[in-house]
Amino acid sequence: MKRFRMVMAVLLLGAAGLPAPAVAAPADYDIDTASSLQVVVNKQRPLDPATYVPSALVRVTGLKVRAEAADAYKKLSRAAKADGVAITLVSGYRSYAQQESLYNDYVRQYGQQVADTLAARPGFSEHQTGLAVDIGNPSGSCALAECFESTPAGRWAAAHAEEYGFVIRYPKGSGEVTGYSYEPWHLRYVGPALAKEFELSGEATLEEFFGLPAAPDYN
Ligand code: DAL
Ligand code: ZN
Repeated sequence: MKRFRMVMAVLLLGAAGLPAPAVAAPADYDIDTASSLQVVVNKQRPLDPATYVPSALVRVTGLKVRAEAADAYKKLSRAAKADGVAITLVSGYRSYAQQESLYNDYVRQYGQQVADTLAARPGFSEHQTGLAVDIGNPSGSCALAECFESTPAGRWAAAHAEEYGFVIRYPKGSGEVTGYSYEPWHLRYVGPALAKEFELSGEATLEEFFGLPAAPDYN
């Protein structure tokens, strides 16, 4: 199994207030295995196997989400609520068959070229890992639309998702890298450590963070 090794240099201050030698804090992420919390899935990196089903799916407000992501999502939505912002879960885990049906609906509605910027083909969706959640406002305003970014739930998530281990996976202006239009509602659980490193790195996408090729299209 290929593993991705990232070494983050941490500068510590010595007792005298002088800079001490840089200390390496290695973090080891498995970005290849479908069940890994840090798996990177895109149009060039299908799930293996294509019909992968996560083993630990739990129910959150009637939808299935992988247990680790479900716990984090519940904490996120509780924290938002404490700040006076209600967040709803719009979509969680989707099976291969559900993704196929969704993708085919988009193709029928918009044609394949546009559909490919909106929905992943079956076997290529983060939703199939159980680690992606689409969030919304209880009012339904700007549901799954770009204007979601300016709604209370969208603003709160952009400011705080990282604290709960989520990243906004399809940011604005990164379609040439991710292959998808801006999705301010699509949060991907990667765990708090990677989410923090990702934020600190200033990179826009997981592809850039891990030095992976851009994935605008399928092979
Ligand atoms: N909307 C995202 C790209 C998906 O279908 O997985
Ligand atoms: Zn999504």
